[in-house]
Amino acid sequence: MDKFVIKGGIPLRGTVEISGAKNAAAAIIPAVILSDEACVLENVPAISDVSIALRMLYEMGAQVETINRTTYRIDATTINNYVVPYEMARKMRASYYFLGSLLGKFGHARVSMPGGCPLGSRPIDQHLKAFSSLGAECTLDHGMVDVAAENLSGSQIYLDVVSVGTTINAILAAVKAKGLTIIENAAREPHVVDVANFLNSMGADIMGAGTDVIKIRGVNYLRGTTYSIIPDQIEAGTFMIAAAATKGDVTVTNVIPKHLEAITAKLEKIGVNVMEYDESVRVWVDGPLVKTNVKTQPHPGFPTDMQPQIATLLTFAEGTSMVTEGIWEDRFRYVDELRRMGADISVDGKVAVIEGTGKLMGAPVRACDLRAGAALIIAGLAASGTTEIEDIYHVERGYDSMEVKLRALGADIVKKTIPSGLSRKAI
Ligand code: EPU
Repeated sequence: MDKFVIKGGIPLRGTVEISGAKNAAAAIIPAVILSDEACVLENVPAISDVSIALRMLYEMGAQVETINRTTYRIDATTINNYVVPYEMARKMRASYYFLGSLLGKFGHARVSMPGGCPLGSRPIDQHLKAFSSLGAECTLDHGMVDVAAENLSGSQIYLDVVSVGTTINAILAAVKAKGLTIIENAAREPHVVDVANFLNSMGADIMGAGTDVIKIRGVNYLRGTTYSIIPDQIEAGTFMIAAAATKGDVTVTNVIPKHLEAITAKLEKIGVNVMEYDESVRVWVDGPLVKTNVKTQPHPGFPTDMQPQIATLLTFAEGTSMVTEGIWEDRFRYVDELRRMGADISVDGKVAVIEGTGKLMGAPVRACDLRAGAALIIAGLAASGTTEIEDIYHVERGYDSMEVKLRALGADIVKKTIPSGLSRKAI
């Protein structure tokens, strides 16, 4: 078990380069299954979710070659197994993308049902509805989701909730289906567009990704491609907020500023300076931070995956702020840990009320999920004294070399191994 030890109170300064997007990679790696030739993926983030997805492909018979730290050549034409067992699927929720990819390619997939925690209930009814509309039979038995179709045929799919995962899974299953598929009320996140661009670069016919109506005309063959994954908007936003919370001055590079608009707009309201360039943003603070209200929504709204980080920043702002979670039913579990650091936050259902105290104190805390971990790192960087964060494997699922990048910005953060039996959880 590893933990981060942070000595806080140092303003971050310098330049940080953002890695490829976790949630795009989580879909594009399984999407390689659909290709009838080998593909090369570039700008792949070095995170444990990626290692798990690559491992899954390998276990299924694909050939996975590491070209360098962020580039892989994957030949999935040798896959000979359509089953993703629980032991693999439980490690990565996005294993549901193997359902759409295997179904689209082979007409059959059997993938362990993803778990619920830690953001509350995480149903997949919309995914199954989309597969059924395309002609697949979907069954659940002993924790496994089984989807099978003799032939997949294009159809009209209306999503009852705006769901990133369902939108991408419907695209994956439809890309080789016969005829036209129309997805209505589709998610518009940048990674949905990235998956569509990746598939189109192989010869798919997908139009409208990035809007709420996506049209897919099925094709028979998808050729190999070399594709570079988009930068991670959430990693970028996390560093922007870390810069603001420590009252530093950081230039965040390898970003698409358009993807950061909702985050930038809120930071400016809080009193943070943000200057946009073509492929970078500079973030600095030279005045007081002030309260604001935030509600998370599907793109282009404020992203739920930035909610814990912005709530942490608001503990340093003057006045009372309100943060409303509009996507997940249980995404405030990190608040108890922030309270250990002196934050004054009360939560009622999906609303957190934050009394800005202007300061936090270092304390031992535990990451309960990926973005909670990111929020605690921000808190530790800006707090006085030492913060020790346990369960950082959550952070390593989705942030590429977080502590290395922070050290390069001047932070005092080290990763330490906790001798087994001595973690707070184990005692
Ligand atoms: N939903 C349903 N039924 C479904 C699918 C979703 O009711 O069949 C509901 C969910 O319960 C939720 C809402 O729809 O209330 C949105 O869920 P969505 O399907 O969009 O989430 P997801 O695809 O499972 C992805 C990201 C999450 C991110 C959400 C929302 C990946 C691998 N995960 O999850 O990322 O919070 O979209 O933007 O892409 C993270 O990176 O920390 C993370 C949790």
